[in-house]
Amino acid sequence: SGPQVARLVASRVLDVPDFPKPGVVFKDLMPLFADGAVFREVIDGIVAYHGRESFDAVAGIEARGFVIAAAIAYATGVGVVPVRKAGKLPRATHSASYALEYGEATLEVHQDAFTAGHRVLVVDDVLATGGTAEATLDLVERAGGTVSGFTVLMELAFLKGRERLAPRPVHALLTV
Ligand code: PRP
Repeated sequence: SGPQVARLVASRVLDVPDFPKPGVVFKDLMPLFADGAVFREVIDGIVAYHGRESFDAVAGIEARGFVIAAAIAYATGVGVVPVRKAGKLPRATHSASYALEYGEATLEVHQDAFTAGHRVLVVDDVLATGGTAEATLDLVERAGGTVSGFTVLMELAFLKGRERLAPRPVHALLTV
């Protein structure tokens, strides 16, 4: 159930103070990925929430989103598309830039990544300010996909990513 999965996620996240920079508390979900039984339950929970028939592809955001997306893809038999940091993809891309606290970040996806009209489930580990997710959802649609859902393992509510993405729905297994 939802509360059960939320407790599982909460039990497998480590708070790392001052990473990647002073004042930031990094949410490290590596212990969740490393626990096979928990990881499987989390993946199955995401698929059950959206419904196996609700998406035709899954997109994962670099880097931890790749792990989640690949597992969902394998479990459901759909394909997986990586949304990558700038300069990593070898062929023609769409790119989207967004502001960080200091400077700017750019994400890219191959222009031919999606079959037109395919419904795409987008996944990542953490939703913070929502800049990464906003750029990704935009990229998926520019590349011809239709976003059918967006799930994160953990949402940091105080950073208001959900509001930034509104009216698009955000599904978070755990909100803190
Ligand atoms: C983290 C996290 C999300 C993003 C969320 O990625 O995995 O992708 O930040 O932040 P936002 O909502 O404020 O945009 P990170 O930048 O650490 O990249 P990495 O996964 O490649 O290490």
